[in-house]
Amino acid sequence: MTTSAAPASAATSPGTLRRAADAPVEPLLSALKVRKSYGGVEVLKGISLAVNPGQVMCLLGPSGSGKSTFLRCINHLERIDGGRISVNGELVGYAQRRDRIFEMNPREVARQRRGIGMVFQRFNLFPHMTALENITAAPIGVRRISKQKAKERGLELLDRVGLANLAQSYPAQLSGGQQQRVAIARALAMDPKLLLFDEPTSALDPELVGDVLDVMRTLAADGMTMVVVTHEIGFARGAADVVVFMDGGVVVETGPPAVVLDNPQSARTKAFLDSVM
Ligand SMILES: Nc1ncnc2c1ncn2[C@@H]1O[C@H](COP(=O)(O)OP(=O)(O)O)[C@@H](O)[C@H]1O
Ligand SMILES: [Mg+2]
Repeated sequence: MTTSAAPASAATSPGTLRRAADAPVEPLLSALKVRKSYGGVEVLKGISLAVNPGQVMCLLGPSGSGKSTFLRCINHLERIDGGRISVNGELVGYAQRRDRIFEMNPREVARQRRGIGMVFQRFNLFPHMTALENITAAPIGVRRISKQKAKERGLELLDRVGLANLAQSYPAQLSGGQQQRVAIARALAMDPKLLLFDEPTSALDPELVGDVLDVMRTLAADGMTMVVVTHEIGFARGAADVVVFMDGGVVVETGPPAVVLDNPQSARTKAFLDSVM
């Protein structure tokens, strides 16, 4: 969770450099009027959202409302049909020359994607690799980091997600919750500026959900910028800076958890929350 909204009284000790409370902040993620259709059916109807560095945004909404599609657009796993998305001030998937927009070549897209980690509902670990190998594969293969360095970092990350003792285990030997924590460590190994989560606990047995949410809370507290699609209202209430309620491809309501979750302004938000809480 970001501390940028902290009251001024909690701010400076002498010699500490802090951003003035009213200084403009460049969003790390900015989506403007994003549109996406599948076969003539528009599933994103102009999504505009912004996430500041260090913020956690939780996306809620009924099945089919476009949450996964929107996440997939953020790292250009889907082309968009209108609007624009930028991460860290750079258009995602497209380059602008004068007033024309071109799709980037696959190499450029791959480079951008490296800065955006994604954690899915299904953990998608490589079954023939140990937990540690799953984490070090991309840093070694893609970022050309030495095996030794990648291994040291991988062990650090496993420790961070509470799995230091399971480095040599294969996915089949791990519980779903442990596999998901390896998947989070794997995403972190690429030093992403932004982490996207698509219902990361939905496929887990209820008793395994807590450990994964704890890891995500720690990441949030450490200042990671995150967009999290989730039905875990408790997590959203505690960890989100901004909660977004989507329905039918539009943003219905957005605001701090205390408003959207506990005092929703829209009848659609209210009805959805009644159905999941
Ligand atoms: N690859 C696809 N081809 C066609 N339709 C799709 C595809 N992916 C998603 N959709 C449709 O887009 C809508 C939004 O889906 P999705 O983004 O998965 O919603 P959510 O994640 O909120 O459940 C749904 O109606 C879904 O059927
Ligand atoms: Mg989905």
